[in-house]
Amino acid sequence: MKNDIKEILLTEEQIKTKVAELGAQISKDYKGKDLIVICILKGATPFMADLIREIKIPMAIDFMAVSSYGVSTQSSGVVRILKDLDTGIENKDVLIIEDIVDSGLTLKYLLENLSSRKANSVKVCTFLEKTERREINVIPDYKGYDIPNEFVVGYGLDFAEKYRNLPYIGVLKPEIYS
Ligand code: PRP
Ligand code: MN
Ligand code: MG
Repeated sequence: MKNDIKEILLTEEQIKTKVAELGAQISKDYKGKDLIVICILKGATPFMADLIREIKIPMAIDFMAVSSYGVSTQSSGVVRILKDLDTGIENKDVLIIEDIVDSGLTLKYLLENLSSRKANSVKVCTFLEKTERREINVIPDYKGYDIPNEFVVGYGLDFAEKYRNLPYIGVLKPEIYS
């Protein structure tokens, strides 16, 4: 698995430091609010698991799975719900957790969908974003790192469902995906 990685973009240490910073900021901003964090399956799971342990205020979690049709390396813009939330979010302060915002299509759909459910607020925390690939004007409220347009895997990010378990973010060797 490690042999498929060209270079490490973000080390375990860099990830840990950034996640702690984000957790501290979120704890501060959401103090006294009815926070529910929503993990967007599957990519956001490692980030979500680490982040919630850095959030030092009462909160709830829920999960949502969405899928966009089309080829695996590119989002088509058509998004559908594969698994919806278990709970209602009326009057709650919702924080969507993503591993990466790429074109922004998934996030745009999620924001529109969740905003229609009468939440008190809906914001976004993403670990990574590729701003140069953005097609839709959505801006995450919290973000870890802005990364260049390279094929990255690890820390939840997959190629054909693999590499999600890498503890760092790495650039995949081109011969693996081409
Ligand atoms: C990836 C990633 C984001 C989304 C970002 O998920 O985890 O959810 O794509 O792309 P976009 O900004 O272009 O919409 P994917 O649909 O691959 O599912 P996964 O999380 O299960 O890997
Ligand atoms: Mn995803
Ligand atoms: Mg994926």
